[in-house]
Amino acid sequence: MSQYHLDGFALVVGAAGGIGEEVAYSFAEAGVKGVLLADINAEAVQKATAKAESLASNSSCRCISTVVDVTDLNSVEEMVSLMVKEFGRIDYCVNAAGVDTLTYCPIDETDPDDYDRVMAINTKGMFLIIRQVAKVMKSQEPRIINLGRHGNRDAGRGSIVNVSSTMAVVAVQGKISYATSKHAITGITRAAVMDYKSAGIRTNQVCPIWVRTPMFAEECRKVPKTSQIVEGLSAVKRPVEPDEVAAACLYLCTPGAVAVNGLTLTIDTGLTAGPMVI
Ligand SMILES: NC(=O)c1ccc[n+]([C@@H]2O[C@H](COP(=O)([O-])OP(=O)(O)OC[C@H]3O[C@@H](n4cnc5c(N)ncnc54)[C@H](O)[C@@H]3O)[C@@H](O)[C@H]2O)c1
Repeated sequence: MSQYHLDGFALVVGAAGGIGEEVAYSFAEAGVKGVLLADINAEAVQKATAKAESLASNSSCRCISTVVDVTDLNSVEEMVSLMVKEFGRIDYCVNAAGVDTLTYCPIDETDPDDYDRVMAINTKGMFLIIRQVAKVMKSQEPRIINLGRHGNRDAGRGSIVNVSSTMAVVAVQGKISYATSKHAITGITRAAVMDYKSAGIRTNQVCPIWVRTPMFAEECRKVPKTSQIVEGLSAVKRPVEPDEVAAACLYLCTPGAVAVNGLTLTIDTGLTAGPMVI
């Protein structure tokens, strides 16, 4: 279906890690012309970039990498300038950089410095990226897509996808900083919709439950019964796979999703729909 084909240029932030890495590979496989993979981990992002290029279905696709610290305004500005210099535009921006709290403990034992660290990366970082990316998207021409038997369609000026968490809609004990940072992403997503929908820029968020990534591995190390908890609570009895989150991110960037704006797409096997009572 032509609604699922992707061309254009993608920026993936947090691309050295589990979900972001998989999003970058999926963009390359879906046919885009270029991907900028950005992360604070220089070595890992270079490795992911080489792999993304090897997976590209479009023979002219170029994958490049850069180091970014999403908490640093200058660093974010440099990343976005590189994207414009190399590719000329930003059609898709997926914000997948993020961290967990260092220790799981009640609010009265939470270290305020760790709270600031989590909020700076998960929340302020996302604001800084959207702030910079929106300037570029606003100023570029909309993309007109040929949808075969459906004719030409205006796909707008850009699609931003924020990788949030099920912790954006519920909380668990011991994670004030993480839950707050993810609830705030709902505000960032909706604010971006209101500021940019008339410019043809869409902003949506995906909210997965446990995903099989290095972050999940670390959670299992801190709380050894995590796998058992996942098996008990998840309808698929396993963590979500990174490619399942990437598929949702890519859908939100396709021409078929041009009318989807401000969505909170939960990827939680039905967990937050309600409790099992019988
Ligand atoms: N793994 C899960 O269970 C899970 C569940 C729901 C939501 N999420 C969210 O998905 C996103 C990606 O998580 P993941 O599981 O792939 O984790 P991950 O640790 O595998 O990847 C996160 C990436 O972010 C990068 N990063 C961290 N700080 C950064 C900074 N200051 N600047 C730039 N890059 C930075 C890391 O280097 C890493 O490559 C996070 O926002 C996370 O909260 C994860």
